[in-house]
Amino acid sequence: MTRNIIIDTDPGQDDAVAILLALSSPEVNVLGITAVAGNVPLALTQKNARIVCELAGKPETLVFAGCDAPLARPLVTAEHVHGKTGLDGPQLAPPTMPLQDQHAVDWMIDTLKAAPDNLITLCTLGPLTNIATALTRAPEIKSAIAEIVLMGGGYFEGGNITPVAEFNIYVDPEAADIVFKSGLKLTVMPLDVTHKALTTKPRVDAFRAMGTEVGRMTAEWTDFFERFDKEKYGSEGAPLHDPTVIAYLIRPELFSGRHINVEIETTSDLTLGMTVADWWGVSGREPNCMFMGDIDADGFFDLLAERLATL
Ligand code: RIB
Ligand code: CA
Repeated sequence: MTRNIIIDTDPGQDDAVAILLALSSPEVNVLGITAVAGNVPLALTQKNARIVCELAGKPETLVFAGCDAPLARPLVTAEHVHGKTGLDGPQLAPPTMPLQDQHAVDWMIDTLKAAPDNLITLCTLGPLTNIATALTRAPEIKSAIAEIVLMGGGYFEGGNITPVAEFNIYVDPEAADIVFKSGLKLTVMPLDVTHKALTTKPRVDAFRAMGTEVGRMTAEWTDFFERFDKEKYGSEGAPLHDPTVIAYLIRPELFSGRHINVEIETTSDLTLGMTVADWWGVSGREPNCMFMGDIDADGFFDLLAERLATL
């Protein structure tokens, strides 16, 4: 069954690969892409989203610009990881496809209000500012949301922007708190999963061996993107975070996890943005998400190579 999805994103090389996977997979119907400020400012994330859609040969994709700052805090960006453009690595021509005029949150609300129950899955690859803003302004949209599949958080792996917080949650913890308390069906791809999906040399070589523009760009993005994480973790590659969200929709059997309670730290300076994941069920708090813990990494990269080769 084809899933109707909205991708909310802050490209970001790994976001770019996730968008390529979605646009090359018949199992998902991308209704639109909503950009949010995160890895780099909004002016760049909305531009980067359009660059990726054109690379995929899908210039008709609807791309919207959303929130340019978190709900209640100054924006924290990650140029140290993604470069100043957010898609550093290959040289990229500016996009020619249009940015839609409507604000992403207005379009999201209008689209969800007009949709039947449980029709649309939200796939979030960045801070949750757009989603939280839409849910707060129009709670009635919840009926149209089948599920939110999000990349964010961590438990056994701790954090990546602080010792305990993962970037997407840390940038806008208030937004994450709204989403995790929304009562919506949530599936979470935390660092516990993405740190097992490493861009090792054979996997990057498989992208390059495609001999296509998509393969070359993906290899150059991962080559750039991984230098930071390889130095930090001393690992054989970097975690390819965001495509796990799309891969889950296509091949859920690649993942395993537990239905647990997760709450978000929004007050302590020391642990701000921490996903307090009750993996061992000791809190007595109601489970509110499927928190993934493991991935078939070879199967994940095989899927990526298979689908990206079709573009
Ligand atoms: O912590 C990893 C997440 O932060 C990924 O979504 C990456 O693109 C950045 O947004
Ligand atoms: Ca991202």
